[in-house]
Amino acid sequence: MTSVLVLYMSQGGHTARIARRICESIERTGAKADMMNLVEATKEGVDWARYDVVAFGAPVYYGTYQKPVFEFIEDHKAELAAKPNSFFNVSVVARTPEKATVEGNRYMQKFLELSPWKPRDLKVIAGKVDYPSWGWLDTIMIQMIMKFTNGPTDRKTVIDYTDWDDVAEYGRHLLTLANQAQA
Ligand SMILES: Cc1cc2nc3c(=O)[nH]c(=O)nc-3n(C[C@H](O)[C@H](O)[C@H](O)COP(=O)(O)O)c2cc1C
Repeated sequence: MTSVLVLYMSQGGHTARIARRICESIERTGAKADMMNLVEATKEGVDWARYDVVAFGAPVYYGTYQKPVFEFIEDHKAELAAKPNSFFNVSVVARTPEKATVEGNRYMQKFLELSPWKPRDLKVIAGKVDYPSWGWLDTIMIQMIMKFTNGPTDRKTVIDYTDWDDVAEYGRHLLTLANQAQA
């Protein structure tokens, strides 16, 4: 039975929810899926041999990715590359169609520049605006980003931009990576 590991970083919980949806969609096909956050993966280790496919997801914070993302990749680039693999990023700029593509999402391009692991399978996913959960400084900074990109600036705004059906489709797509490897 094909088994998929979904590693993820999530500060606000939204990428965790995306990882969960990916796993649910995989399990619905009869395959196996585990989600594991980076803290657990870093501190407790990963039993890589159990998995046929590895996906890795990270949210964008201030135009880049949090330090543990690159630290983990640096330490485990060989294991990540050893089997079919995929990277997905989560950002609010991806709410517009032109920034929801691998080519149009500059944070994906940035990931490819900075990461020593170069996954060929990539996915851009739109995240969540959640001003009430953010501190005042983060709120001001994101309001500025939103002003430049014609997004919501009202401090009461909570908008989930994620296309959940597309996330489920990405889960099923991950299974096809295993099949391609076996072919
Ligand atoms: C402090 C902070 C900085 C952010 N910076 C960006 C950014 O530069 N570009 C962007 O598109 N989204 C940015 N976001 C939006 C997050 O990527 C989005 O909220 C994502 O869903 C967060 O995922 P998480 O809940 O898993 O941490 C930022 C959010 C926060 C709180």
